[in-house]
Amino acid sequence: MNLVVVSNRVSRATAHEPMTGGLAAALLPVVEKSGAIWVGSSGRLRDGAQREPFAKIEALGSGALAMLDLPAAHYAGYYEGFANSALWPALHSRTDLIRSSHDDYQSYREVNSFMARALLRFRKPDAVFWIQDYHFLALGAELRDLGVTHPIGFFLHTPWPTRAIFGGVPHHRELVEAMLAYDLIGFQTDDDRDNFLDYLSCELGLHASDGVVTSRFGASRCAVFPIGIDPEKFAQHAAKAASHPDVSRLRRSLNGEKLAIGVDRVDYSKGLVNRIEAFDRMLTLNPALNRSVSLLQIATLSRGTIEAYGNLQNDLAKLVSDVNGRHGEVDWTPIRYLNKGFSQTVLAGLYRTAQVGLVTPLHDGMNLVAKEYVAAQNPADPGVLVLSKFAGAANELDTALLVNPHDIDGMARTIATAFSMPLLERRMRWEAMMAKLRAGTIQNWFADFVDALQEAHAVNEKGSVPEAEPDTSMIWPLRTSGAVVGTRYH
Ligand code: F6P
Repeated sequence: MNLVVVSNRVSRATAHEPMTGGLAAALLPVVEKSGAIWVGSSGRLRDGAQREPFAKIEALGSGALAMLDLPAAHYAGYYEGFANSALWPALHSRTDLIRSSHDDYQSYREVNSFMARALLRFRKPDAVFWIQDYHFLALGAELRDLGVTHPIGFFLHTPWPTRAIFGGVPHHRELVEAMLAYDLIGFQTDDDRDNFLDYLSCELGLHASDGVVTSRFGASRCAVFPIGIDPEKFAQHAAKAASHPDVSRLRRSLNGEKLAIGVDRVDYSKGLVNRIEAFDRMLTLNPALNRSVSLLQIATLSRGTIEAYGNLQNDLAKLVSDVNGRHGEVDWTPIRYLNKGFSQTVLAGLYRTAQVGLVTPLHDGMNLVAKEYVAAQNPADPGVLVLSKFAGAANELDTALLVNPHDIDGMARTIATAFSMPLLERRMRWEAMMAKLRAGTIQNWFADFVDALQEAHAVNEKGSVPEAEPDTSMIWPLRTSGAVVGTRYH
């Protein structure tokens, strides 16, 4: 099998460098080991005159990383426009934030089509394509239109909302119909899959049997694959990071205070305003906690050119400064608010330093920060995870302190409870969560999806016509840079 993994963002950062995006950080170690080719955006744009789509193909572990310059004329409409101002708000149940034009949709489709043509380069007879996330809902259909009959799977890292909410996305029917070109469609939770099946049944009149639905493309299986992490590796990072300068400086600066930590992209789905308000309320309701607890909120800026994100950045900065102004003292600041990223190693050390992990999104596909916080804890003296019941991770990590992020008073009380939880209870809760993390690692997730994809495709293959020879006129000449490029991709 020649596995081709496709995502908008790719990464080759080491554990010692800051990394952007949960998806890219999660995929990197498994893709590296699998020998797959990982295809995604180079982060640069191309003009119309440039013929070859691949800016760079380089070795990555036992496979390769292939980066494309996406078309300049369509990038903004694709990424900021349709993907992040129509799909993202709807997928996170914020249809009020949808701002998208017909041109944005056209650009989204153009970029999906561009990616499909570029992928023909990797259409070996035993190729298996695995497409990631909401940027590429229509990529499978574009590949089928180009004659690709290989296994093509899709995994959605975000939630899938209720039928009425997804119906708020312009061109929603066309998009979901296109998704049925995938042999396997993977979701993070049962609710996400059930919402999708409900959409198919009520909007398209397609009724699934045992999660399998049949369309003009053949059969598509819809199933749940909760994404995991590598808990042992994260625990090792955390133990090693104790002596990292950033981590020791933080420890020294605490002067015996207890610490809560939050690590998020600045995104309205992450519930940051509610979290800061709850921390504020906790300090107001429990004056004894002043000076004895504080919050480190790492908030990496994201998608700042989109109005909703720009507004949120301003609101948060104002709110944090207001809380610090009201509760702070000459020698104590309740909230340290940092708009910068840290490496996985340093993050692991910061998580281990904090007695409380705050992961309180309003809606989240999985949220791997929750899993990383748990894995980073000292088994002899673990911290407490305060977790939104609206994060996918809450399905597995049900011995965390689960909160409703819309209930500010309730969250304030729960954070105070977390700070004072006795060791025995902390250990029992933590051990139960670690057992779940060990049972559902990222390695298992990856292998389970690829196996299920091949099985789902085998169902479709029965009775299908043999594939035509690749149409090489569609394939651009390839310029490579960097070291080795696996010969099997030529
Ligand atoms: O939640 C899904 C996800 O792909 C995350 O993994 C990632 O952080 C985000 O969406 C996309 O972020 P960006 O727009 O910065 O690539």
